[in-house]
Amino acid sequence: MTGKYKNVAVFGLGFIGLPLALSFSMNGKKVIGVDVSEELIRELNSGITHHLEEYKGTKIEEILKKQLRENNFEATTDAEYALEKCNNVIVTVGIPVAEGGKLHIEHLESVSRTIACNLKKGDLIVFRGTLVPGFMRDFIKPILEESRLEAGKDFYLGYASERVAEGKAFEEFENMPTLVSGINEKSIRETTGLLEVITKADIIPASSFEVVETAKVLENISRDINIAMVNEFAKFTRALGIDIFEVIKVANTHKRVNLLNPGPGVGGYCIPNAFYYLNAKGKELDIDLELSSMARKINKDTPVRVAQIALEKLTSKPEESKICILGMAMKDYSSDDRLSPAFDVIKTLQEKGVDVAVYDPAISNDYDYLVEDIIKP
Ligand SMILES: NC(=O)c1ccc[n+]([C@@H]2O[C@H](COP(=O)([O-])OP(=O)(O)OC[C@H]3O[C@@H](n4cnc5c(N)ncnc54)[C@H](O)[C@@H]3O)[C@@H](O)[C@H]2O)c1
Repeated sequence: MTGKYKNVAVFGLGFIGLPLALSFSMNGKKVIGVDVSEELIRELNSGITHHLEEYKGTKIEEILKKQLRENNFEATTDAEYALEKCNNVIVTVGIPVAEGGKLHIEHLESVSRTIACNLKKGDLIVFRGTLVPGFMRDFIKPILEESRLEAGKDFYLGYASERVAEGKAFEEFENMPTLVSGINEKSIRETTGLLEVITKADIIPASSFEVVETAKVLENISRDINIAMVNEFAKFTRALGIDIFEVIKVANTHKRVNLLNPGPGVGGYCIPNAFYYLNAKGKELDIDLELSSMARKINKDTPVRVAQIALEKLTSKPEESKICILGMAMKDYSSDDRLSPAFDVIKTLQEKGVDVAVYDPAISNDYDYLVEDIIKP
């Protein structure tokens, strides 16, 4: 590997961007992390993070402190400064989805425009967030080319979908195969070279942006569908009076069957949002995504069903009952409560008058039902 990847700017320092930035700095690169949140930048530069990641037993906060101390990592809101200093840029800014499925593309638009305003000849720009299929070519590239520089000729443009799971980010950056695409062969080569800094796993080139964008969204939707399927099966076994977990255990002895376990629903930024990214393009193409849409609905309705099961089990009136919910994050090994099914479980119980207490020491957001101790009455 040449020295050309010695500096990296990472835009977006959230659940993905921060461990990604630190993975580059741990591998000896000078990294400037950029985020629009001043509070986040202040915290990071003071060595504080609420994330639960760790690498080979070292917690992310310790890694952050060490990288700051050794001047391998700095965080800033000053995008211009980062783009002046760095020739390699990775964007992890995503597309939030509002209730009802509306996509908020303004963050992605804004970061693309900021990069366009400061783009230099020879820069490598790699997007890693989950996108609507077609966005790299039809939305991001035209904004970047407002710089009057041409993608593939004056600067390199790549897309490598992010596949890591929260809580395992450092390990999966290293060991999860990565899909790579680019505006041309040179861009794929440069993107691959940059990613080789942090990964030992295969880097798999694909023929177009659209292939990688679509593969990423389908990977997430396939999980949504598989989870919805077992949540539906759980409804059936419950009505029949048999144990879904026993059914799954015995069914999975079939060599071509691999049922997941049912749960209280699906949360987080990735799986619930993926359907809306695909559907945005599906509408444009006049494709009805019936199965994916149904799976999304089943998973969205599941927390209410779980709350109803709890209500059925009460031995006193709901308004005289207190229920403690253990775990509020959207998944294990995570402090992320975005779109957590816990919210709908809590809301449904509270609407029936139940006094709800929630215990999850990983959650740093403030909710009045969160308790610090499960022992206290
Ligand atoms: N969280 C996951 O487990 C996961 C896994 C795989 C892929 N992804 C994808 O990775 C992307 C990022 O996800 P995340 O969970 O890290 O999101 P996040 O919300 O935690 O982080 C995004 C960050 O971008 C910042 N930001 C917004 N606009 C900006 C701008 N103009 N310039 C600089 N920073 C800006 C936000 O302040 C935020 O800190 C998404 O596309 C998501 O779908 C996430």
